[in-house]
Amino acid sequence: MPTIHVTDRSGAKQTIDGKVGQTVMEILRDKNIDVEAICGGCCSCATCHVFVDDAWAAKLPARSEDEQELVEETESYKAANSRLSCQIKFTPQLDGLSLTVALSE
Ligand code: FES
Repeated sequence: MPTIHVTDRSGAKQTIDGKVGQTVMEILRDKNIDVEAICGGCCSCATCHVFVDDAWAAKLPARSEDEQELVEETESYKAANSRLSCQIKFTPQLDGLSLTVALSE
């Protein structure tokens, strides 16, 4: 099973199984990791904000215009690393993805 390495808001690190076909937000939420995902994945709340590690950031598909606009408005926005986890579809190629959950806004 492909995995995701997650650092949560408390700084605790864990490795979780990633289900191919789900979004990263769904995987985090199903493991009770602290993403609120208030909008349910509609790209309208930014409460699923994560920072993807440098090594992985360039391997992800580019942000859509909607994701870009929303994530830029977050206080902790990092141009190179910020992603909305509901907009990242988990694939076998993302095995080992490493990310940190952003503090809630
Ligand atoms: S869950 Fe709302 S933007 Fe991702």
